[in-house]
Amino acid sequence: MSTQRTPYVGGNWKMNTNAAEGRSLIDSIHSTMKAGSVDVAVFPPFPYLMGIGQKLNGPISLGAQDLWHSENGAFTGEVSTSMLKDCGVSAVLTGHSERRHVIGESDELVNAKTKRALESGLTAVLCIGEQLEERESGQTDAVNERQVRAGLDGVSEEQLARVVIAYEPVWAIGTGKTATPEDAQDAHAKIRALIASMYSDSAAQEIRIIYGGSMKPGNAAELMAMSDVDGGLIGGASLKAEDFCAIIEAAQGSLVGS
Ligand code: 13P
Repeated sequence: MSTQRTPYVGGNWKMNTNAAEGRSLIDSIHSTMKAGSVDVAVFPPFPYLMGIGQKLNGPISLGAQDLWHSENGAFTGEVSTSMLKDCGVSAVLTGHSERRHVIGESDELVNAKTKRALESGLTAVLCIGEQLEERESGQTDAVNERQVRAGLDGVSEEQLARVVIAYEPVWAIGTGKTATPEDAQDAHAKIRALIASMYSDSAAQEIRIIYGGSMKPGNAAELMAMSDVDGGLIGGASLKAEDFCAIIEAAQGSLVGS
């Protein structure tokens, strides 16, 4: 990847851990992680945000897995950005494939959530990616383009500076199957070209586009060595401190000249 972009590595814990496991995972990450120029965030389940946030120090920031796009009010079961910020959250996932395809979130809802996150001053990690049938029928780039355009509709170039795009091919999530470095690079380069056409060349050069889908210590370095792969969004492997820290180290190693 380019020296201009600081790699971004996120640990999406999904609906895993309990309070004690989350605390011990953070302790182990703190004791294993080597300092370096990588932006690292963890995304624990809602009930543990405050507790995990209080344990985080220095380079790791706190993220949430979802938000609701209105301010506080009659939205039973939902969580607003002001609540998230109150817990110390600085980043939030939007459009994760499990929310799109299991919960049924539309492009419009993903867009509303992304805009709300950005208006609130949070970093939005906008997740996109094609399903297996879409890949097999040659629609990967069309799906990515639709999800990027819809997800960023109404987002200004200034706000885009707080967007990270996570390309997560759905067929690679939790399956042990990973996109080849060349396939990931191809998708990322097209997403970056799309950002250039929607915003500007400099916005495209600055935005981090990270890969997610069965990233692990054994494949992280080759994926992140690709010029347009700026880090990773990690599910399963983020629940093991040793694996997560090895991926962070691979991201550090991906910086040109390091
Ligand atoms: P896995 O790393 O478990 O495949 O999950 C990827 C993911 O969905 C991260 O958001």
